[in-house]
Amino acid sequence: MDDDRYDRIRAVQWQGDHLRLLDQRQLPAVESWIDCRDVDQVTAAIRDLAVRGAPAIGIAAAWGVVLAALRNIPLAPALARLRAARPTAVNLMWALDRMQRRIDADANAATLLREAQAIQDEDLAANRRMGELGASLIAPGSGVLTHCNTGSLATAGFGTALGVIRAGVAAGRIDRVYAGETRPWQQGARLTMWELVHDGIPAQLIADSAAAHLMKSGAVQWVVVGADRIAANGDTANKIGTYQLAIAAKYHGVKFMVVAPSSSVDMATGTGEEIDIELRDPAELLGTAGVRTVVEGAQAWNPVFDVAPAELIDVIVTERGLIERPNSIAMQAMFGC
Ligand code: MRU
Repeated sequence: MDDDRYDRIRAVQWQGDHLRLLDQRQLPAVESWIDCRDVDQVTAAIRDLAVRGAPAIGIAAAWGVVLAALRNIPLAPALARLRAARPTAVNLMWALDRMQRRIDADANAATLLREAQAIQDEDLAANRRMGELGASLIAPGSGVLTHCNTGSLATAGFGTALGVIRAGVAAGRIDRVYAGETRPWQQGARLTMWELVHDGIPAQLIADSAAAHLMKSGAVQWVVVGADRIAANGDTANKIGTYQLAIAAKYHGVKFMVVAPSSSVDMATGTGEEIDIELRDPAELLGTAGVRTVVEGAQAWNPVFDVAPAELIDVIVTERGLIERPNSIAMQAMFGC
């Protein structure tokens, strides 16, 4: 694959003594970077969505632990603050648990730095592997619809669902790419379209509400999405709107693919019912780019994730392999308990 074309964006960069983050709140209008020099700046960047996407927030949190160690900040409260930054993506807790195990063995900053780098490097390798595995399932000439942003911005690089799309386009299997705008934060419109244009991949933005109509037209054969947490039975939490895409896909005979590294799998959570769904500020819905668009006095409910039940998912693609028609038995066989 032409990496210069398909794998150039790195949104989370360790700079030797601080963490540099591409500020995703500003894209695509402005490409500005934030330099985090202490753990609380990293916590705020995760909470305020300067860095977002399940694997990326886990990686950023790991670097936050390194910053705490380098600045001699007490590690236990620092890890607790990072853990509380966002509730749904299990990659955050997974990365912090991994850093905690390293701290328990040896709290030396150099050791922690190697662990954070390993978390980041392993995520990139997982994405490249999932790209190959997922793309191989897509018949040449297909169209795909994706949701939210699951690309280089949301990961160490290349992406999960967007990695499959990159690999599928590079292999000549995917002819048509559609991205839902992903209201209210517009990860699809602002971030996925930015990545696709960056790579020179022709794609069309659709309103989220156009998805069922698109499926009915026959233009897409696959919906390809990422995950924030996959429960032990295969139920998958992802960006709000994913559940209705899975329902519409089933009705229209469109295949539904979830692409996520094993760091998104939470075998300690039995079903999607147990997943904590983040509620964010209603202001995200009541206005756009900080400008109020809804009448003063109106209220809003703003859950930012939902759960697609396992029975609506055709395949989960992880770096360990494919889980077709996921259920507890297949998940157990791949991930143990
Ligand atoms: O609120 P966000 O933007 O962090 O939500 C991101 C998503 O829901 C992504 O689809 C998911 O994290 C997978 S990213 C590879």
